[in-house]
Amino acid sequence: MEGTITPKHNIDPVRKEFYGRIGKHNLAPLWEVLGKLVTEEPDTLTQAHVWKYDAVRPYLIEAGKLITAKEAERRVLILENPAFPGESKITRSMFGGLQIIFPGEIAPPHRHSQAALRFIIEGKGAYTAVDGERTMMNPGDFVITPSWTWHDHGNIGDGPMVWLDGLDMHMVKMFEASFREGHESEDAMQPERPEGDSFARYGTNMLPVEDEYNRPNSPVFNYPYDRSRAALETMKKRDKWSPWHGLKMKYINPRNGDAAMPSISTFLQLLPKGLKTQAYRSTDSTVFVCTEGRGRTKISDKALGDKTIEWGPRDIFVVPSWAKHTHEATDESVLFSFSDRVVHEKLGFWREQKFKA
Ligand SMILES: [Fe+2]
Repeated sequence: MEGTITPKHNIDPVRKEFYGRIGKHNLAPLWEVLGKLVTEEPDTLTQAHVWKYDAVRPYLIEAGKLITAKEAERRVLILENPAFPGESKITRSMFGGLQIIFPGEIAPPHRHSQAALRFIIEGKGAYTAVDGERTMMNPGDFVITPSWTWHDHGNIGDGPMVWLDGLDMHMVKMFEASFREGHESEDAMQPERPEGDSFARYGTNMLPVEDEYNRPNSPVFNYPYDRSRAALETMKKRDKWSPWHGLKMKYINPRNGDAAMPSISTFLQLLPKGLKTQAYRSTDSTVFVCTEGRGRTKISDKALGDKTIEWGPRDIFVVPSWAKHTHEATDESVLFSFSDRVVHEKLGFWREQKFKA
């Protein structure tokens, strides 16, 4: 028994004997593993990948025939990064999945430590309720379910509704801090506040003078696409584009300007037709969703080499940590994205590199 050391090189027999003895006391020599622990650049495992929505959608519809939303609790097909089969990871730290809910269905209330975002892909007439307030969801809306808040979903429309779930699940798992609780009622929670109450209080560039909101996330829990998209449309008239991002906006908490969620950064960006961004990389593996337009992203993937991802409306793709990449917009395009960037920033190790042509 030699502890957990599996060195690549031949070990001096005296050292080997020492490692064996200390291994029995749950000790190990750092000098044998330091190079793998503290790497010169990120040891990225996450791979570049795209899920074409047209290919995925039939399986979502089929899942609806296999199991009800109530029985499944959440009827979700997990978007598994090819680097992590069976681990329910879209990136190393994040869960990603596509949830479908049919007319008349309710995904029953529960709460958990993991914070979730919903980015609406298709349909109308479904709501998410968070802590007693419902919000109707439309394509392109960004909806927050903060950590440990009661939430349920219901479809009172007449067609299927699909959204992307993004959760900080694997951060919570790493910290061994997960709790979950089901609600005593399996039916929808009764609203306690009128729809739009949170947006009225916090979403209009004003704050209540006696503000008592004290969670670390934004009190706005639905950022409607029509408002965010209109902002980009107005900005583009000034014709001042970032060579790396086009026009890119961050969703924020209006109380303090922080990211809207304490563990997940979210963005919306407009790329004008014909723009080819200059190469860029950052430490946060990022999930993109195309909401409008068409284009491609060229990525220098550590595992796969140079990879080109073609994307169009509703396609979802991943750019791994520290992978140099460029976007090319065939048509004017809008991309939503999310990552764990805000955590890197808070902990002081976020890094980016902008290349110049
Ligand atoms: Fe949930």
